[in-house]
Amino acid sequence: MSRDKTLIVANWKMNLNVGEASLYLHQLAKLVKSHRDVEVVLAPTALALQSLSLQVNSRQFKLAAQNFYWRDHGPYTGEISATQLRGIVQYALVGHSERRHVFHDSDKDIRAKVQAAIRNHIIPILCIGETASEHADGETRDVVHDQLVGGLANVTSEELEHVVIAYEPVWAISAGDGRGRADKPEDVTAVIRVIRNQIKHLYGPKAAESIQVLYGASVNPDNAAAFLAIPEVDGLLVGGASLNAHDFNEIIKKAHKGSGVAKV
Ligand code: 13P
Repeated sequence: MSRDKTLIVANWKMNLNVGEASLYLHQLAKLVKSHRDVEVVLAPTALALQSLSLQVNSRQFKLAAQNFYWRDHGPYTGEISATQLRGIVQYALVGHSERRHVFHDSDKDIRAKVQAAIRNHIIPILCIGETASEHADGETRDVVHDQLVGGLANVTSEELEHVVIAYEPVWAISAGDGRGRADKPEDVTAVIRVIRNQIKHLYGPKAAESIQVLYGASVNPDNAAAFLAIPEVDGLLVGGASLNAHDFNEIIKKAHKGSGVAKV
């Protein structure tokens, strides 16, 4: 992935049914002006992925899976594999905190999912971030380090070029314990520096410089510009505010370099 493009990802979580998702896409397509320097990605319910893949203008928007199982085929009732998603989505979230904490996805599961995505030519967006208690106990660096090392354990340097990292402090996610309390830009900068340092340690300086790192958690049209202005931030993973097409478009507009939001 190249850092030339700012990535704006909508994680709709378990919201919007198939009809609503289609209507939303129709609305958003009319609102959003495409720019070469911005990539907009939508992560709807898995049920809507197939129909949206036929409806979407893939030059305007890409699609992402919110989750999948790491095996490619077999007797895994109720699961969807990256192999089945191949050709429908270009991206997939892996290790979102709701997967880690509500569904107990382990580091081993997350590592296997990163591998499965790569194997199936889907770009994994590896989500990492500390909980409220880990934050309060000053464990942010250790947690981020462990989740990064765990998720990337089997990833080669070449494969890393097709991996995106998203830093989402769990305590700041609006649906979690954050209640809309976004992180401070200076703290985000510090944690993303930790992430890049770890990538440098594992893969060298070039990889650390070129890996795309997003920020997520309580991003909205009012604070998006402040996060996008952080030099270390290459895009946003948006939850609640992405459920409203007008609000999401306001966030997308701020990602375009000509929008007046300059990196500081
Ligand atoms: P909110 O933007 O609703 O806090 O959600 C963030 C998130 O979890 C995106 O993946």
